[in-house]
Amino acid sequence: MSEKIIISTSNSKTEHYQQLLPQIEALIDLNCGWVANYANVCSAIQQYFNHWWCGFYLINKNNQLELGPFIGPVACTLIDYNKGVCGKAWAQSNTIVVPNVHEFEGHIACSSESNSEIVVPILHENKIVGVLDIDSKNFNTFDNIDQEYLENIAKILGKIPVNF
Ligand code: SME
Repeated sequence: MSEKIIISTSNSKTEHYQQLLPQIEALIDLNCGWVANYANVCSAIQQYFNHWWCGFYLINKNNQLELGPFIGPVACTLIDYNKGVCGKAWAQSNTIVVPNVHEFEGHIACSSESNSEIVVPILHENKIVGVLDIDSKNFNTFDNIDQEYLENIAKILGKIPVNF
């Protein structure tokens, strides 16, 4: 794998993702388990986009979402099924884009500075194993472009078994 992420100089979000995606594929190290790979992937996303918070919640043995590798301020450790944006994305097995977290019923505010959010489920062998969660300090940060590319990133991660 390459040791450096090359950052696109483009202002286009699509081009950013188009350059990031192959680098994420190259970053995946199948000699390692999921922790190393998930940790590198959230770091790579963050190097590109510099969001407020980027990380993972994984379904634990008590059937809750438990905080996994992330980059950003400290966050809530456990989230119940169907609670918050993460728990709802899990329950619905669908990406949820939240333009304004203050208008999302049941949103869990790990940080008062977050204003918009996207949560993307990660499936391994057709079974949801966790979610990718990204928070922004700005409103309306995430759209269908983020959804499309982050779902692709989730698909790449979904190839790696998670033992949690
Ligand atoms: N806002 C999330 C909780 C996790 S933090 O944003 C890192 C939610 O409502 O599920």
